[in-house]
Parts: sequence; C-alpha cells; structure tokens
Amino acid sequence: MTILAPGGVSPLRTPTARRYLMCRPDHFEVSYAINPWMDPARPVDRARAVQQWEGLRATYERLGHRVELIEPVPGLPDMVFAANGGLVVGGRALGARFTHPQRTAEGPAHLARLRRAGLQHVVEPTHVNEGEGDFVVVGDRVLAGTGYRTDPGAHAEAAAALDVEVLSLELVDPRFYHLDTCLAALDDSTIAYYPPAFSARSRDLLEALYPDAVLADAADAEVLGLNFVSDGRNVVITQEAVGLVAALRGAGWTPVPVDLSELLKAGGSVKCCTMELRG
Ligand code: ARG
Repeated sequence: MTILAPGGVSPLRTPTARRYLMCRPDHFEVSYAINPWMDPARPVDRARAVQQWEGLRATYERLGHRVELIEPVPGLPDMVFAANGGLVVGGRALGARFTHPQRTAEGPAHLARLRRAGLQHVVEPTHVNEGEGDFVVVGDRVLAGTGYRTDPGAHAEAAAALDVEVLSLELVDPRFYHLDTCLAALDDSTIAYYPPAFSARSRDLLEALYPDAVLADAADAEVLGLNFVSDGRNVVITQEAVGLVAALRGAGWTPVPVDLSELLKAGGSVKCCTMELRG
C-alpha cells in the first residue's frame, strides 16, 4: 500500500537510523583483475578515492547514521569494500570466505572486527560467501546471489546461522558478479533491480515477490546505480545513475547522489563500501 503525504503528492517514506561498518581506502589500488571492471593498466587516484569515501562517510553521518570503522590492512586493496566482510542480521553475524586468493585475508580481519562489535553471535563460515555483496536483506527475508562468487551452500549456511529465510537468485552477467551490483533494498518490502542480470527463473521469482519493484535500465546498471544504500527514505547512490535518481525521486524516495568514481574502477560503489550492523 502507498501512503500519501499531506497534499497527496509523494508517498510517505520513513527513515530509520542505521549502524554501518566502513573501511577507509588507505591502501586502495587496482593491482589485479577479479571482475570485468578492473583494469590494472588504468591509473587510480588513491587520494581522490579517500576524499570520495570521506564524502560518503560524512553523508551517512549527516543523515543521522552511525559509522564504525575497520582498520585497513596494507596489501588488501579491495578491503574498502566492507560489505563483503560478512552479513549481520538481528545481532548475529556470519563471517565471509572469499572466492579469490587476493582477498582471502579480508575474511579473518572482518571476523575479528565483528567479534568486537558487541554482537550476540559470530559464526565462521565453511562455504564461500562474500557477505553483503551476495546477501541483500529485505525486511525478514535475505535474497542471496550465486553464480560468480558466493557458493549456493552458503545460502543454507546463512539461513541456519542467522535464523532467517534465505531465497537464492542466480546471476548470469559477469559485470554484475555480486547480487548487490544489480539489486538493492529500498525498505523492508521494496527493492530495485536490473532484470537482465538474473536467470529467467530468478527473474520470475523477483517479479512475483516484488511486483512494485523499481526497475533500472542498462545505463543505470552499468554505472552500478543499483549499488545504493537506503535508510527507508534517503537513498545514497552514485551521481552517475541519473535515470535511476530521477525514477527514485518520482517514486517518492529521496536520492542523495555521491561521487565514487575512483572506486568504480574496482567494480564497487556505495553499497560495496558499507556493511550494515543490524540489531
Ligand atoms: N574489486 C572487488 C571485487 O571484485 C569489488 C567488490 C565490490 N563489492 C561489492 N559488495 N559488490 O571483489
């Protein structure tokens, strides 16, 4: 149901204060290629990446959210993508286990950090899973991606470890190698996604479950516009996704555009930089 605000123009959206975990890109670079976005021959401006990341962090704080940090580790250039470090729901965490050897050491670093986050329960994973990269929480349900990184066995592992319903989705386009590159939650029952990134079966499932979803087009998906973070009203999103920004505004959300162009060179955007510590 859509609730209209006084005046009847835009639907009423309610933001809730969040707790995020981020990692400053102090050691960011593109020195290997593990997704089609990464080209080690293309220069990266680390100082600019840090500046853009600081802009994102300040944006969250201005919106009333709490940002906690994990210490960046030298030699782990992708560690800025904190979303990949685990999945936290209801005060319980499932740690990550990375697909590529270049990122393996991020798993234990995040596990140690999550153990200091005041959670009830932190589980070390047995199956490969790249945290919130492939797990998107939508209300009481967790949508889980597989195809490029996270092992389907990790979906059942997450359901058991966190006591949540997990629904598997299959990714079919290597540019959208993590679920959070092509699908995001706007609130507890609304999502936005890019249909061509999913198998026909997964697409049918999404259509049936979320008939009111906001659909992104190729241009918005190709700048990782769907890699956004919503608090139920404010949607922090890359400024490059102009079509999606307009569509969200038209649907009553409040887009908050940010510039993360340096991090896009590694195949990441807003959501990739942000792990949510829930409950
Ligand atoms: N270069 C990183 C990788 O390929 C980017 C990770 C982006 N993170 C995300 N949550 N999608 O693993």
